[in-house]
Amino acid sequence: MKVVGALVWLLLPLTARCVEPISMTVGAIVTGVITYYGVHWYSPDQCQLGGNINVTALQVDFEENIFGQHLAKRVILKAVPGFLENRNPKKPLALSFHGWTGTGKNYVSQILARHVYPEGLKSKHVHQFVATLHFPHADLIDVYKDQLQLWIRGNVSACERSIFIFDEVDKMQRGLIDAIKPFLDYYEHIGGVSYRRAIFIFLSNAGGEYISELALHFWKTGREREDIKLSDVEHHLALYAFNSNDGGLWHSSLIAKNLIDFFVPFLPMEFEHVKMCVRAEVRQRGFLEDEDLISTVAKEMTYYPKEEKIYSVKGCKTVSAKLQYHL
Ligand SMILES: *[C@@H]1O[C@H](CO)[C@@H](O)[C@H](O)[C@H]1NC(C)=O
Ligand SMILES: *[C@@H]1O[C@H](CO)[C@@H](O)[C@H](O)[C@H]1NC(C)=O
Repeated sequence: MKVVGALVWLLLPLTARCVEPISMTVGAIVTGVITYYGVHWYSPDQCQLGGNINVTALQVDFEENIFGQHLAKRVILKAVPGFLENRNPKKPLALSFHGWTGTGKNYVSQILARHVYPEGLKSKHVHQFVATLHFPHADLIDVYKDQLQLWIRGNVSACERSIFIFDEVDKMQRGLIDAIKPFLDYYEHIGGVSYRRAIFIFLSNAGGEYISELALHFWKTGREREDIKLSDVEHHLALYAFNSNDGGLWHSSLIAKNLIDFFVPFLPMEFEHVKMCVRAEVRQRGFLEDEDLISTVAKEMTYYPKEEKIYSVKGCKTVSAKLQYHL
């Protein structure tokens, strides 16, 4: 766009000079300047939007779409708006989401991205890396490391408020994630680029078993799962991720150097939560909220442990397909 503006600015006066020197030149210059700035006024860079977030709207979105995750909601509603409003953060925000499949890790990161950039995952400032898709080959780890660094540098140079989501971190090759360690650290800038306004989100199953057992323990001792506090869990999650044999965070310097700001647990989904997922899906598709249908779909999920059958094995993951079958 800048190029177009500059061309108009340069070329019009040339042709204009042949016709009527002074007034045409002035006219052309004015046209050029208006074109140049007009283009910029009408296509503001979305990157600048990335500082605003409507906390109420985010909260409403969470209430309507995320179920059984009091800790995740609380941590994110506290950490993210505060970080976005801080004009001078000391390091980028790094969140590590932990929990079994179907508990909402992906969904929460999508919602979050959408509230920072309306286009969400489609925004050019939101980048998602899926371990098995982007980094599948063990022997290419060095290539991936270089690539990852180049991508992050390139994208943050273009927009400081970039969001990077790493999915399936537990399936990432050991050591790969450490390639981004310098970007997460407390440096003012690296090679002239500041990474301090970026957001990094890591999603993994590591620690899922521990979270599950903790929730079960609360259930068995008659306590509400909402009474589980972040301080009960965070330290354990960091340890599990650090020591988990099959995990991209295994002995990772991100953890060793305390560069992850929050370890966020996603609790296993109970029957009631699965019903909420079904209900939300029914509503979204514009059907009547038929309680029989909702229960039927929720009952079709498999629940564990074998005896008590409290938590859905796949969380809410296959709800959509199961509902489709009944409609
Ligand atoms: C924030 O979101 C709420 C709920 O969607 C809405 O009512 C309110 O007008 C929004 N505020 C701004 C400043 O956009
Ligand atoms: C930004 O990241 C994407 C991957 O999400 C990559 O394809 C692209 O080349 C990067 N852009 C720059 C300017 O490095």
